[in-house]
Amino acid sequence: MTRDELKQQVAQAALKHVVEDKVVGVGSGSTVNLFIDALATIKGRIEGAVAASEASAERLKKHGIRVFDLNSVSELPVYVDGADEITEHLHMIKGGGGALTREKIIAAVATKFVCICDASKLVPVLGKYPLPIEVIPMARGYVGREMLKRKSQPVLREGFKTDNGNLILDCHGLTILDPSALEAELNSIAGVVTNGLFARRGADVLLLGAPGGFQTLKRKG
Ligand code: 5RP
Repeated sequence: MTRDELKQQVAQAALKHVVEDKVVGVGSGSTVNLFIDALATIKGRIEGAVAASEASAERLKKHGIRVFDLNSVSELPVYVDGADEITEHLHMIKGGGGALTREKIIAAVATKFVCICDASKLVPVLGKYPLPIEVIPMARGYVGREMLKRKSQPVLREGFKTDNGNLILDCHGLTILDPSALEAELNSIAGVVTNGLFARRGADVLLLGAPGGFQTLKRKG
């Protein structure tokens, strides 16, 4: 099976978690794009969606799925999103597409976070994938120096602005043994909007695409 077929498999499988007549949270990225396409096949059975990026919102609208502002939604039973790296504890690095802040907000609101990805994303320790940090533009240099102090090499994502008008520093060279602690520490640096660690609010369910069929992993405890 190709990687795209593995993504397709989990995108389809995620439909089972969608709650009828409710708004569904939708993340961003290539795996989520396939989920949006799958969601279109049951669009008559949901109220609509909230989207973590402008690109996802556009794709949902093209399919005729109503897109709600998160502020007008008081209940979000399920959020479906991908990941750049994920551990068996369902801690993640996200933000490869730069939508980490909106993704984190929607994940915080949702009752259940369903992560969909192919098996290549499952890792024993987070950090091989550079950790994205969204920063207020004037804080770029300061946050970069703070990351150097933490033995990480920050690289400005060239020519990229987030949907919130900010910059991304992709931070290389981290071996993240305590993702919850690092997530909180980095978020306390002045000028950081948020970082791409999703550990304090990790996924509840992981649908992992593999050649022999997808696996379901659930958060322990
Ligand atoms: C975007 C994300 C995506 O979920 C992550 O980059 C995975 O994307 P893909 O499904 O294309 O591999 O966090 O900010």
